[in-house]
Amino acid sequence: MTIICYFNAFKFSEIMRTAVSVLVITALAMLARQTEGSEVAPMYRVHAFYYMWYTEPRAGGWTHWDHEVLPHWDANIKGKFPHGIRFEPPDCLHSPYYPLRGPYSSMDRELIQQHLKEMEAYGIGVLVASWWGPPWRKGSHDTQMVNTDKRLEQVIREIEETGSPVRVAFHLEPYEGRTKEHVYEDLTYLTKKYMGTHALLRVNGQPVYYVYDSYKLPPGDWAQLLVRNDGPWNVRGTPQDGLFLGLWLDKDDGEQHILPAGFDGFYTYFSSDQVSYGSRVENWPLMQMWAIGRNKLFVPSVGPGYNDAKIRPWNKVSQRTRGDGGSYRTYWAAALGVGAQVVSITSYNEWGEGTQIEPAIPREPRDGCQYLSYEPNSPYLYMEITRNSSRELGRLIASGEKGMCTMGIGGDANNAGGSESSEGADNVSDK
Ligand SMILES: *[C@@H]1O[C@H](CO)[C@@H](O)[C@H](O)[C@H]1NC(C)=O
Ligand SMILES: *[C@@H]1O[C@H](CO)[C@@H](O)[C@H](O)[C@H]1NC(C)=O
Repeated sequence: MTIICYFNAFKFSEIMRTAVSVLVITALAMLARQTEGSEVAPMYRVHAFYYMWYTEPRAGGWTHWDHEVLPHWDANIKGKFPHGIRFEPPDCLHSPYYPLRGPYSSMDRELIQQHLKEMEAYGIGVLVASWWGPPWRKGSHDTQMVNTDKRLEQVIREIEETGSPVRVAFHLEPYEGRTKEHVYEDLTYLTKKYMGTHALLRVNGQPVYYVYDSYKLPPGDWAQLLVRNDGPWNVRGTPQDGLFLGLWLDKDDGEQHILPAGFDGFYTYFSSDQVSYGSRVENWPLMQMWAIGRNKLFVPSVGPGYNDAKIRPWNKVSQRTRGDGGSYRTYWAAALGVGAQVVSITSYNEWGEGTQIEPAIPREPRDGCQYLSYEPNSPYLYMEITRNSSRELGRLIASGEKGMCTMGIGGDANNAGGSESSEGADNVSDK
């Protein structure tokens, strides 16, 4: 794939030396200080989106495993598909896959401990917790009416009590009616609540926030929060400050959203090339160049595939097959190929969209409910690819800029400096 050596043509290492962002450097220095000694544990560069919205009857009833089939927003298409029906666990889940651990409750202590151990064992150092606002606010819940605030508390407590090395970053979800004032209050709430814990990932002493669907607030609103100013909502230099990552979807989101909003960096979330510009790996070199030029941290999102056919039967166009791990490997290779310093995984356990890397097992159809599986590979295939990739990321970073371009995808490392690439190179190096 040319992506790797696109950077060769850009003289990537030179650009990195001269123009690499202060932000990235300080962020890495802080990551280094998170661990004892001078080595950065590679796992703190590997973040996985984590969902705590599952429950089963012993925890008060099913949530999410029984997700309803969602209607299309266009009435014509809506009419062509069933919707509103709920799945019936434990045999009929909303997911195209069946979890090794069965349809579980996110509030189960033992389960949380298993998750933390698994992340540690497979090179994931940071769990990015899907958080839907404080429990008291109207609208602060996901589409299935779940508020995850108490569950996050529990995860943090488990990390504290078990001594797990895994750390938490926040995934701020766009609950209904959220305004910039709410965001400010939310940051105040989280900051106060978790001030004393060592369970949070801290970069420059500050927590890390991924902001999902950040476009739902105009950049001007974000700017009041995130661009240093004297207004009442500004968090810069206050206890509410953090490392904020916005969501890059469309081609121009860098200039039109991330930059004016004042985000410190961005991520792409979707790992299906049909979903957005940002989710297509061939765009990552340009996005990385943009990030370096603007002092932003690019945290590409990698994932094994995408399949939400059960909850959105009309959404076939967005599906991405797993190809026995091939899609996931391609995403990882692209992230490493653009020299990403931090990589986010979509997802550890978003079962409804079929993006999970958590182990799944084959299951015989029951009640007409069928499941895909990771066979002929092991239920741990995606965890294993994660561990290997996490190690590779650590190795690349330890070896500095050297080899950034030669690691190759599928042994195709000699494809350097094609004519397309050199053209792009001229454009970028002129800036
Ligand atoms: C992970 O790396 C090991 C050692 O190189 C290799 O034997 C194994 O097949 C890899 N696993 C996967 C799933 O790629
Ligand atoms: C380089 O810039 C020129 C002029 O702005 C543009 O027409 C061309 O498409 C660019 N090439 C690439 C590869 O971006």
